[in-house]
Parts: sequence; structure tokens; C-alpha cells
Amino acid sequence: MSATSELIFFVNGRKVIEKNADPEEVLLSFLRRKVGLTGTKYGCGGGGCGACTVMVSRYDRIREKVLHYTVNACLQPIVTLHGVAVVTVEGIGSTKTKLHPVQERIAKAHGSQCGYCTPGMVMSMYTLLRNKPQPNMEDIREALGGNLCRCTGYRPIIDGFKTFCGSEQSGCCQNGGSGGKCCMKNGISHKEENDICEELYQLDDFLPLDPSQDLIFPPELMIMEKKPGGSPLCFQGERVRLVAPVELNHLLQLKAEQPEAPLVVGNTTIGPKVLLKGVHHPLVIYAGRVSELSTLTWGKTGLSIGAACTLSTLKEELERATGEIEEGRSKGYLALLQTLQCLAGKQIRNMATVGGNILSANPKYDLSSVLAALDCTLHVISEGGSRSILLNEELFTDFGRTSLKPDEVLLSIDIPYTKPWEFVGVFRQAQRRELAFSIVNAGMKVFIKEGTNLVESINIFYGGLGPTLVRARRTCQQLVGQSWDENLLSEACRLLEEDVEVSPSVHGGKAEYRKTLILSFFFKFYMQMVLELTEKNVLASDLPLEYLSALKPFKNQVPQGHQSFQLVPEAQSSYDLVGRPMEHQSALQQATGEAKYYDDLPPVQGELFVFMVTSTRAHAKIIKIDPSEALKMPGVVTFLSAADVPETNQRLWKNNPEKLFADEEVCCVGQIIGAVVAESREKARTAAPKVQVTYQDLQPVFFTIQDAIKHKSFFEPKRKVERGDVDKAFGNVDHILEDEFQMGGQEHFYMETQGVIAVPKGENGEMDLFVATQHAALTQEVVALTLGIDTNKITCHVKRLGGGFGGKVMKIATFSAITAVAAHKTGKAVRCSLDRGDDMLITSGRHPFLGKYKVGYNKDGTVVVADITFYSNGGCTLEESLFVMEKALLHMDNAYKIPNLRGRGLVCKTYLPSYTAFRGFGGPQGLMIIENILHEVAVRCGLTPEKVREINMYRAEESYTPYKQLFCPRDMVCCWTECLERAGYQERLQAIQLFNSFNRWKKRGISAVPMKFGVGFSKPFFNQGAALVNIYKDGSVLVSHGGTEMGQGINTKALQIVSRILKVPLSSIFIKEMCTGNVPNASPSAASFGIDAMGMAVKDACEKLMRRLQPVMKRSPDNSWEQWIVEAYCQRISLSATGFFMGGDTLMEWEKGEGQPYCYFTFGACCSEVEIDCLTGDHKNIRSDIVMDVGKSLNPALDIGQVEGGFVQGVGLYTIEELQFSPEGVLMTRGPSQYKIPALCDIPAELNVHLLANAENPKAIYLSKGVGEPPVFFGGTIFFAIKSAIAAARRERELGDSFCLNSPATAEKIRMACQDQFTQTEVDRCTPSTVIENSWMTGSNQHYDQQRHTLAIVKTA
Ligand SMILES: Cc1cc2nc3c(=O)[nH]c(=O)nc-3n(C[C@H](O)[C@H](O)[C@H](O)COP(=O)(O)OP(=O)(O)OC[C@H]3O[C@@H](n4cnc5c(N)ncnc54)[C@H](O)[C@@H]3O)c2cc1C
Ligand code: FES
Ligand code: FES
Repeated sequence: MSATSELIFFVNGRKVIEKNADPEEVLLSFLRRKVGLTGTKYGCGGGGCGACTVMVSRYDRIREKVLHYTVNACLQPIVTLHGVAVVTVEGIGSTKTKLHPVQERIAKAHGSQCGYCTPGMVMSMYTLLRNKPQPNMEDIREALGGNLCRCTGYRPIIDGFKTFCGSEQSGCCQNGGSGGKCCMKNGISHKEENDICEELYQLDDFLPLDPSQDLIFPPELMIMEKKPGGSPLCFQGERVRLVAPVELNHLLQLKAEQPEAPLVVGNTTIGPKVLLKGVHHPLVIYAGRVSELSTLTWGKTGLSIGAACTLSTLKEELERATGEIEEGRSKGYLALLQTLQCLAGKQIRNMATVGGNILSANPKYDLSSVLAALDCTLHVISEGGSRSILLNEELFTDFGRTSLKPDEVLLSIDIPYTKPWEFVGVFRQAQRRELAFSIVNAGMKVFIKEGTNLVESINIFYGGLGPTLVRARRTCQQLVGQSWDENLLSEACRLLEEDVEVSPSVHGGKAEYRKTLILSFFFKFYMQMVLELTEKNVLASDLPLEYLSALKPFKNQVPQGHQSFQLVPEAQSSYDLVGRPMEHQSALQQATGEAKYYDDLPPVQGELFVFMVTSTRAHAKIIKIDPSEALKMPGVVTFLSAADVPETNQRLWKNNPEKLFADEEVCCVGQIIGAVVAESREKARTAAPKVQVTYQDLQPVFFTIQDAIKHKSFFEPKRKVERGDVDKAFGNVDHILEDEFQMGGQEHFYMETQGVIAVPKGENGEMDLFVATQHAALTQEVVALTLGIDTNKITCHVKRLGGGFGGKVMKIATFSAITAVAAHKTGKAVRCSLDRGDDMLITSGRHPFLGKYKVGYNKDGTVVVADITFYSNGGCTLEESLFVMEKALLHMDNAYKIPNLRGRGLVCKTYLPSYTAFRGFGGPQGLMIIENILHEVAVRCGLTPEKVREINMYRAEESYTPYKQLFCPRDMVCCWTECLERAGYQERLQAIQLFNSFNRWKKRGISAVPMKFGVGFSKPFFNQGAALVNIYKDGSVLVSHGGTEMGQGINTKALQIVSRILKVPLSSIFIKEMCTGNVPNASPSAASFGIDAMGMAVKDACEKLMRRLQPVMKRSPDNSWEQWIVEAYCQRISLSATGFFMGGDTLMEWEKGEGQPYCYFTFGACCSEVEIDCLTGDHKNIRSDIVMDVGKSLNPALDIGQVEGGFVQGVGLYTIEELQFSPEGVLMTRGPSQYKIPALCDIPAELNVHLLANAENPKAIYLSKGVGEPPVFFGGTIFFAIKSAIAAARRERELGDSFCLNSPATAEKIRMACQDQFTQTEVDRCTPSTVIENSWMTGSNQHYDQQRHTLAIVKTA
């Protein structure tokens, strides 16, 4: 059959004809690099983040309508787009023409901070509105479930989008506040404060939704698609050929001729393997155009669904049909729907097919266990004929392998109706409730003899326990004929334990937890059945009522809440914008995709690409580096190593030099050894692994804090802070407790990966760098030193960052220097843009900590003395670790006056990539350790932790920290009191106790913590800021300052300040970028100090200008601003001024353990309530209330955004984010599939934030306070609420109240700490070294090979 190789599709209404389309090209790179539409972003390249979301529309011949759905452009090969229309964020509206209401509302509701996730969010919402102009909140929740945001905490995004719902939906929380009441009527006692405002934006000035603004589906495509038949397509790329048949026979013929060629439809399994793991298929068969594979028919026995139907199609059909089918027959479908609801995100469900899900044969995928339980039949076909097979464990022969013959194609799947006495249960538990592969999933179906409670037959299938689907065969056989009662339960549990084995080396680890889930899931099914049989009157239920809540899975809800702040005084001029909730300066550009990030800049002619070659050994001597194979690859230009560095092969910073390229020895996996420079990023990426490095392994090699302690491997110097007489005080206390607490590390997971473009200017060694850095001055200096060029010839430009969180301070200087070396060597512009996996591997994140403590307390809860030794895992170089440790020590007292307190800090040297700065910089670790100590004291005194916190709190107006810094805790106590009051803590505590007494398998917990957090750099030289303000003759103002805009809104606040002083509207003021040419020697944007320093500097510059303009203004007071400026120009008055701010003299004398390391303290308090599922370890964040002191807020909308975003990052840190390493020191969590940051489902259903009123801080600009870092720690309240909930479960089982729970409180740890008849061991033992012997693979899709991959997971503490 003759095939066409012309690909036709539309992008934003424009026709695209590709004659030589490359099957390897995905839509994301096509849009960004070929069409120049850079609004669609790269976040992970594997379908896990939603940053690349676009809308695809296609005409469905069978349904005779145009379908609109979202896809992840990073996984969508362009050759599969023939005949469709793609709409990107640029295609729906712009600031130049007309905004789309979705773009406008996310911007105005403050739902865009760094803006990197915003286009994806916009496209998910836009597509929803195309399909349903009046959505409900559940629709919005579902639409955004596949989009991650690392900045906002999601609440403001939802706030903006819920305005599309009917008013009765958007006005109320709908979720039920505490106690099931509407949060608007839940009796929270708000003080009558009429200067307190709850409106962060005006609802009434939004553009209406106008469907006529939408692009129409191209009529040409409609005609094309309506034509029956069509010819097959064939595309030949450089390395891959793809054939897309239209007819089934052709497909079968191709499969017969090329049985090894994979059949691709959604590309969500094959795609990540090819794109992220480098798997290569020279020939691929695309089956998405064969209509026989996309049928949906209802027959006598049930639904028959084509293998190429997407999961969304199946879900929608079941949602429709279950409303019509009688209840008894739809049980299987309802169960399947339950699974589909939390399977991946919407975009993946729109792409992924039912057939692909089954035949990927990945036990973590959810459908097989359910479909097997439902006795589904697969119809397979080949040229040789067709056959039907039952979907059961025999279909799966190994990980990723099935018993289908290579030439066989899955045509359809029959999903039968359930019979009247059949009952179905489905279960899954994942690291995160949504957008996460299950750890264990299960499908169960039992057929009961009519009118009895006797088991006629039973199916029990599990996924996630080994390489293939597992059937509990013997259990199922033996339960036949038994009555469904308690005897059956104990028999089944006994049998399941024998029948279903979980190898200690199971893929992904957590063997004990998986074993527990086998029984816990069955127990849930047992209870579900008891209930159903009781309803049918065949069983007299002896199931205690308090067991029933275990049956209700947690419902994902849309976060809602109140945000309140103090209005500016009425007397403040309406032109004065300081203190008002202004939207982020570039929110609209971010929402329209117009905002440019470094990798959005168009290529410079002849531009090259650099890709890092990294160490695969943790500790080894480099014997030889051989790039010859890589250099032979087409398009490879050169290879760089230490020898290519013109001057200094070092990133010099303080006294901690770090090599750019390792040359003699490597000290961690992921250390940069060399770099391949090639004509394209794909060529560089393909060539990099070809560089051969010969190593000689060295000893020792260790990765954990505990092993470092054994090896006495510490960096110098060690630190200590002490007050009182610690040793003596232990002699005068009622009780002494010695224990330890561990905290895991955290990956920054900024949505934009690190990178830089280096452009040599060809003259005097000048070079421009467009770079994503929080510390442009450091990058500039390191590049200059590396090249041996004066700093004045290197210019760094930083327009904005797609998130930084401390991760773009240090390592980016190394990448920049390497890229600059490449540019210097080749004389060409060179671009470096890290893949997500490399970014995570190389750059590392927050330090893991271990706190060993001895605490002395009295029985009333007074803590008299504490002696804490803090150990951090610094990784292989010191980098910023010492300063991180110092910050932990300086926060070890938090809000408490512990009269005798000693903290020692040791940074462990291990063979992991160097840990670095992360929002909070040691604060979240130091605070958490002391809070855990107080929690444990409370438990032992039989008091609530809140009581103990109150007893020990600083109260004196003149209080001193252990290092003798004076502060006044008044506002801290105010935050605490107001937080407890607003949260209704006392009443809810009682309600929780009541809830717990009525619920055996679900428990609730509540926790509140106060916080004191130091702002500013303890190194005084960093406490400075500089700015340059230029006024042009037309009156427009250009502002430059030394801060980096990374979502926190530093530019917006700077504009508000300028506007106040110069009295000009915001529209006349502009901040272009941070540029080292305009503002030299700038401090990093960090330590919550950005606007404190830059705001003052900007103010200084503006005041200088105003002083110069005063005479002109006085002479002609009625003139306009523009006239004054022209006049001033004519009078030769300089219209350009620099501003400078010299911050406070912070200093810490570590030898004495005394000093004033902070400019001031920021205070706050947070109260959170959670509910845990004791059987699975799942938890739900019910409500959090935060009261935060930000002084007199410069911009309440931005400050509340920082509070919410920081809090949610803390929720991730303390509950779900878990880094895992292999025993060889390889980071295994290298993408969103393995590493889970909070998604929409993790946000408390109710999140209330209040900015403390009447708070003023004379030490910072306009009485404000820095806010970036402190709120991270509030996430700890979720941890302690979980701990309280677990304690409630344990009390009921008469287990001790004190137990070990380390951070993060993952589902595994929660479940195992709830110890009951289904658990065998406690997983989170506080043994010095938590090493679990397990096998592990980097991703979901790697071939399962037990022999090769028997590795251990080392959870680095
Ligand atoms: C970010 C992400 C999150 C995910 N989360 C989940 C989750 O939570 N739960 C879950 O269950 N799954 C999850 N998945 C997996 C997803 O559901 C599967 O990848 C998808 O169903 C596979 O379908 P596909 O059409 O994309 O397969 P493809 O990648 O196109 O193909 C997959 C395999 O199936 C074979 N195949 C497909 N159709 C046929 C056929 N008709 N006949 C013969 N062989 C065929 C192919 O040859 C190939 O080997 C996730 C995937 C991603 C990327
Ligand atoms: S970049 Fe496509 S989903 Fe992350
Ligand atoms: S605004 Fe969502 S990732 Fe930054």
C-alpha cells in the first residue's frame, strides 16, 4: 500500500505541512524550536509535570464531533498529529491583542508567581472550558490534577479559575469546613476588625468568557477527516522510521513482517523509555489511526472497548453508562471508575490507552489487577488469525513482557457486567494520592451464592508486589464455600501471608509495607463485603460502627480558604500603591506565554549545545577519559575537560573551592568530569554517554550521616552555641529523655531546570551570559576567573527564573563557567539547559539532618535543659553546608526559652553530591528538631504538645536568644494566640477526640506550632543592596536592582516603592532584567532579604532623584511629571541615580557562641489538622490556619502567596518528598515519576492565611518584614498532626504513645507506625542506619531484571 509522508496539522490556526517529519521529534521541541512558540514549557520531559500542556482538537468520525483534550507535548510525537489542530497558550490570547479570561483570571488572582507552570495551567483550564463553559469545582480539580506548581501552593490558581463556576459554587468552600459545615458559616471567631480585608482581587473587573474568541476547528481538517479511508503515513527520520497504517490488515501485515517493532499509540510508556532512558527502536508502528482498535460497543455481556481507546474515553463512557445501567450490573464499572479517577493526570489519561496500560506489563500500572479481577477477556489478532484470552496472571511473563506473540495485536477488551451477587473492591496506595504510580494496587471480586453468605468464587489480584501481576491463587481456592465471616477473615489473612510472597528485593523497596498492604487491602474488602451482605440481609453484621469509615477512600477536594490582611490607612493616597495587593508585575506575560525565560531566547546563529558528562562512581581515581567515540558522532563539535579551562578549573567561593571538572578523583556520582559540545541538544545528549571514563575505585565509600559518624568524617569547623549550665541542669530535673530525630533531604524541583546561554562577543574576550541564577555576581566572577578575563568583560543578564528556592545560587556558576569555556573554545554561542534527571542528579538539594538529643524536663512540661548534637549530610564538598548548619543552630531554640541549651553542629562529609542552599537554609531542620523534642516531652508528661509549647514560650518583652541576640516576642505570642483562636483549636481538639473514639481505622490529629525566624545574612557583607534608576525624557522610568525575580515578586514590590516616591503610575515604570552591568557585586537573592535590601536601595535612588527634581517641581507645581522631566533635562539635572543600602551590622562570633546574626526576626504560627488511614498510611490534610507576621506588608497578595507557597513546600518536605539512593550512591529519584512534590491533592481542603495586623518592623523598608523562607517550617504542623493521629491509633491498640517517626512522614511510615495485626515490623525504627536491601530501578519502565538490579536503597539521613 502506498504511504504518504506528508504530515498536515494546524498550530494556533496556522497550517503546518511537514514533508520530512522526524518520528523522534516531539511536539514540545517542535513548538519551541521550529515554530518559535516558547510559551509551552519543558519541566520534566516525561509527562509528569504538565508544564508542556497544550490542547489538541480532532474530528471524531464515529461520534461526528470535534473533541478537545489536553496532552503533554513532551510525549506527543508530531508524526501522530496528522489531521489535528494544536492550540498553545499563545493561541488563545495575548497582551497585544486580547487576553483570554483564563489568562486574565489566573494572573489577577495571583495564581502566577515564577510563572513557569502557568501556561500549562492555563491550557488545562482553557480546554476544560472549551468542553464545559460552566464547570464545577470537581471539573477544575480533575482538569488541574496533572499540573504541578512549585511556587503558589495551588490555592490562588483555583481561586482564579473557580470564578468560571456558578456563583453558588465559587462563593462557598463546598468541601465542608471542619465538622462538615460550610467554611463561611463554621463559627470561626473572627474579631470585628473593619480594617481587615479578605479580598485580594476584584471579582467584578474580569473579562467575561466569550466562546467567539476561540479558534475554530479548521474546516480543512474536518473535510480531510470526514473522508473515509485515507492512506497510511510513513515518516523516515535520521534514526527512526514510523509507519501509521489506517487499515487493520495493513497493521497486521506490518506486525507480521516486523514483529519486533513496537506498536505505539499513546506513547506514554514507550515515550519515556525512548526520551529519558535512551531506548532505541529503528522502526515503530503507530496504531492510533486504525479505527477497529478504537471501537466502543455495549453487548449482552457488557462493554467491549478497543485497545486504542484512551483511559479518558473509558472513564467518560463509564461515567455516562453507570448512570443508566442498573446498580447490580455496574459494580465492576464503578470500581474501575474509582481506579481511573486517580490514575495519572488528565493529560496522561487523554493520551494513554487501555491496551497500552495492560500490555506495558508494568505491575505498578493499575488497570490489570482490576480488569483481571473482573474476568475480562482480551481479543488478540494477527495475520495468522484471532484468539481470545482471559486477562489474568498468566498473561504476564516478566516485567514488561506478556505471553502475546510478537506479531499479535490486542484488538479489544471485554469488560463484563457484574452479576447480581457479585461484589467488587479496588484498592491502590501511592506515594501521593494522584499523579503517582501505585506502590501496591489490588482488584478483588467475590461471587456469593444467592441468598447466602457463602463464597461461590473469588478473585484476588495484586500489582506492585513483584515483576508481574500476582494472583492469590491458593487463597482464592480455599475460600470457596466458606461463609463470609470473621473465620474467613483470619483464614484469608493466614493464607494470603503464605500465598503471596514479597521478595525483600522487590522493585522500589518497602517490602514490609507492601506485605502489610496485601492484608490491609483484603481487610478493607472484607469489611466492605460485610456491609453489603448485611444490607442484603444474609449476614448479621457484627462489624463495629467505628470500623466503617475505613471503607471511605479519601476524597480529593479543591482547596479553599480565607486570606486576610490589614488595609492601608484610609488617609493613604489612592496613587500610593505600597501596602496594596498588586498583582505580580509580569503575571499577564506569564499567563500568555510571552514571558521569556533563559531557554526561551531564540538561538543565536551557529549556536552550539553543551551536555555534561558525569561520574558514575562515588569515589574513584580517574585513570583515563576517552572522548574519541563521542567525537566521532555526527554533529559533535568538541569535548571539554579540565585541560580546556583557560585559567582556573575552580568555582572559588569563600574558602571552599570546588572543581568545575573533576580531573584526578571523583567524590560522588554525578560529579562533572567533562562536557560534550554539539550542534544540537539531541546530538550532545546522545554523544555524552559515549565518553569512556576509566576509574579505579577508592575506599572508603559511604553516604549516610550514621556512616560518616562511624568514619569520623566531618568538615571543619564544628560549631557550638550554649546558654546556661547544661551539664549541671540535668541534675535538677524530674525526667531525662535521650533520643534522636532524622530528617530527609529535599530536591528543589524548581519547574525550570538550570541553564545558561553564553554568547561570546568576539572582541576583547567579552561575553554575555543569559542565565538562570539567583546570584549573578558570583556567576560573573566565576566565569571571569575560569576564562582569565576581567570581571568587567563578563555580563550576566537575568530576566526571571522559573523558580529558584536556593538551588540556583551555587551550581549554576559552575554550569555557566563550563558553558563559557565551550563558547570561548569554539567562538560560538553555547547553550546549556539541563534535563530534569541531570538537574536532580548534579545539583542536589536540602541537607538531611540527624539530631541526637538529651532533654531534661519537669513533669509540668517545663523544659529545663536540652543538649542537642546536629549532624547534617553535607555531601562531598563543604559548599554552603557550614552556613546551613549555623542557621540550624541559630534556630534550635525556636520560640522557647530553654534556660540551659546546648547545640553542637557537625557537617558530615560523605560521597554524595554536595548538598546546597534551599529555602530556609537549615532553619526548617533546626526548628523541626526542637519541635520534635517538645512533642516527645509533651507525650511523656501526658500533656498536649501545644500546652508544652505555651509553657516554654519566650514571653519577656526583652528576650534573648541562646546567642544573646535581643528580641521582643510580643508579635510571636500574638500570632500564636490568634492562630489558635482563628483555628478554633480547643473545640477542634475535642471534636477530634470524639472522631477518634468513633473511628477505628481513620484517626485525626491536630498540631499547632509557633515560629521565630531570623531574617538577613549572618555575614554582614551580604546585607547590602544597590540599584540604578534612570528617568527618560518622556518621563518613563527604568529601574535596575541587584535582586533576581524568581516568582517572589521582588520587582513588583520595587515598582510599588518607586511609584510611591516618584508619584508616577506603575505603567510608566519598568524593570527589564537584573544585569551585572547595571548593578555590580549584588548579593544573592536569598535569606528572605531580597526586598529589604533592594527596596531600600531603590528608595535611596528615587529619593536622590526627587531631591534633584524638587526645585523644578516647586517652580512649576502645576506641571505634569513629563513636563518636569523635560525641564530638568534642559537644566542639565542628572536623571539617573544609583541607590545603595548598607544593612545592619549582623555578626556572629562563633568562638564565643554569641552575636547578632540577624537583622530582625519574623514570627508566625500555624495550626493543622489531618486524617490518616491507619490501614494504608494515606493521609489527608484537612485544614491549616496560618497567622504570619510580615510587619506592615508591602504587598499582601504577594506576601500571602509566599506564605502559602512556602507552607506547601514544607508539606512536601515533611510528608511526601523522599530522596532515594542506590547502595552505589546513585540518586534514583530523578524525575516527577519517582520524586513527588505536592500536587493539588496534597493541599489542605481549607487553607486560611491571616497577616498579623498592626505589626511594624522599623528595621526594614516601610516597616515590612522578609517572608520568603520562614513559612516552609509551617509544613511541620502536618507532620506533628500526623504523629498525633498515629498516637491515637496506637493508644487504642494499647501500644505506647511514644514511637519513632522520622521526617518525611510518608504513607509507608504512617502505616507501619500504626502497628496492628497486619503489620509485622515497624519500618521506621530509629536505628542508626536505615538501609533496606531492595532492588530498585530508575524509572517505571526499565526492564525488570532481578539479577542485574539487586540493589539496596539507602535512605540518606
Ligand atoms: C506521568 C505518567 C503517569 C502515569 N501514571 C499512571 C498511573 O498512576 N497508573 C497507571 O496505571 N498507569 C500510569 N501511567 C502509565 C500509562 O497509563 C500507560 O503508559 C499507558 O496506559 C500506556 O498506553 P499507551 O497507549 O501510551 O502505550 P504506548 O506507550 O503507546 O505503548 C505501550 C506498550 O503497549 C504495547 N501496545 C499498546 N497497544 C497495543 C495493542 N493494541 N496491541 C499490542 N501491543 C500494544 C506497545 O507495543 C508498548 O509495548 C502513567 C504514565 C505516565 C507517563
Ligand atoms: S515537560 Fe511535559 S509533562 Fe513535564
Ligand atoms: S508559579 Fe507555578 S511553578 Fe512557579
